[in-house]
Amino acid sequence: MQALDEKELLIQKDYIKQAKKIAGELEQKLGHKPTFAIITFGCQMNARDSEKLIGIMDEIGFVNNGEDEKSDFVLYNTCTVRDNANQKVYGRLGVLSNLKKKNPQMKIALCGCMMQEPSVIEKIKKSYRHVDLIFGTHNIFKFAELLVTMYESDRMVIDIWDNTERIVEDLPVKRKYSFKSGINIMFGCNNFCSYCIVPYVRGRERSREPKDIIREIEALVKDGVVEVMLLGQNVNSYGKTLESPMTFAELLQEIEQIEGLKRIRFMTSHPKDLSDDLIQVMKHSKKICRHLHLPLQSGSSRILKEMNRRYTKEQYLALANKLRTEIPDLSLTTDLIVGFPGETPEDVDETIDVVKQVGYDNAFTFIYSKRTGTPAAAMENQVDEALAHEGFDRLLKVVQDTAKERALMMQGQTMEALVEEMNAQDDTLVTGRLSNNMIVHFPGDASMIGQLVMVKLVECKGFYYLGERV
Ligand code: SAH
Ligand code: SF4
Ligand code: F3S
Repeated sequence: MQALDEKELLIQKDYIKQAKKIAGELEQKLGHKPTFAIITFGCQMNARDSEKLIGIMDEIGFVNNGEDEKSDFVLYNTCTVRDNANQKVYGRLGVLSNLKKKNPQMKIALCGCMMQEPSVIEKIKKSYRHVDLIFGTHNIFKFAELLVTMYESDRMVIDIWDNTERIVEDLPVKRKYSFKSGINIMFGCNNFCSYCIVPYVRGRERSREPKDIIREIEALVKDGVVEVMLLGQNVNSYGKTLESPMTFAELLQEIEQIEGLKRIRFMTSHPKDLSDDLIQVMKHSKKICRHLHLPLQSGSSRILKEMNRRYTKEQYLALANKLRTEIPDLSLTTDLIVGFPGETPEDVDETIDVVKQVGYDNAFTFIYSKRTGTPAAAMENQVDEALAHEGFDRLLKVVQDTAKERALMMQGQTMEALVEEMNAQDDTLVTGRLSNNMIVHFPGDASMIGQLVMVKLVECKGFYYLGERV
């Protein structure tokens, strides 16, 4: 595996120069600096990819105005994990089609997971002819080059790769927050859960070299970052594919040593790969946050087997129990799917049972969405929509009740919060995040953003707290 692709970095830096020239010409033509908007769908991986794409647009000299309808260049970074994410993108493309008729200078680009599906590309070629550029998840490092090609061509430019081993480091990045940042520690997924399209659109699992990760975090800390979120579809299997293999627990211990770094988060953990070593490292760490997102998907061992999750209800419960015993102040959250092929109301009961036994602090509940090309899509016993909704409503009620109960348990405690932003509704309040991921609003001002402060949790509002600084 080629970890650092230095030659490619030089090539892309040259394309950035060429793109700067194009931006200058555009400015003359338009009478203003060209503007752009990048709209992001999906998970934290996509959010991080968008920071890289924005970094390049900034460097080139486009102005970020964030509004797709008013920009000279619009890019949708898409998600395809569930069908509703795809429908949103088609909806936006419809709106832009009319705008582009009035403003032919407008350029429209698409990237991200949806673009890795051949059927999507066919549909866009046929029905959305006004799209100018399409690329996928494996070649976003080529973004500057693709931009240059697009501005030099009057046809739709399409560049999709099936897979890649390449990891190109050190291109510009523009962070959304000055004080916290996501960091990719690995790409892709090898798990092939039978309902999930991610392995097909994100390719095979590959880990970044620990020294590159550490170097990136050190640079971020120098630049004011106090909290990092280590990103991967299955961080617990980090390092297996490296030339000199290393475990995720070992990587965390190295990151812990970085001076000036205050908080470490990570996602996502697959229960089948969560080691005792990791639990011990979390338990003794001063920096790893007291939050673990541990997707359950289903509480029925029969459905879990069909999902290819490779754990049973009992194994998951034993793991959750161990976590709660070893780290009592840990907040546990999860993902749940209702309506997987063959699921009965009794299977949903099993899921509800796990939610009650584990007592999740929060859970994302999804209705199963059939993804073409996955094994589950070919299963014959697809669940009736009405039945799935019924199960979903039943489960959601328990999830919400449990989360409220858990939240109430923190009432009156004093904890450290990282101030993230001003409160959107009330400008006398700031919004902070506790180590356990709970949100707390309390009196403060913009100067506190990015600081860690002690806050007393005064009033529980269900899923968040009102507090006061102590
Ligand atoms: N790698 C992560 C999850 C990535 S996708 C993990 O394994 O935990 C995020 C969540 O989307 C999944 O946990 C799952 O609950 C949900 N999801 C994935 N595919 C889905 C589908 N076809 N229908 C409904 N929900 C799905
Ligand atoms: Fe999808 Fe499973 Fe991989 Fe998560 S672990 S991304 S759910 S295949
Ligand atoms: Fe969606 Fe791709 Fe993430 S499909 S959930 S954006 S990896």
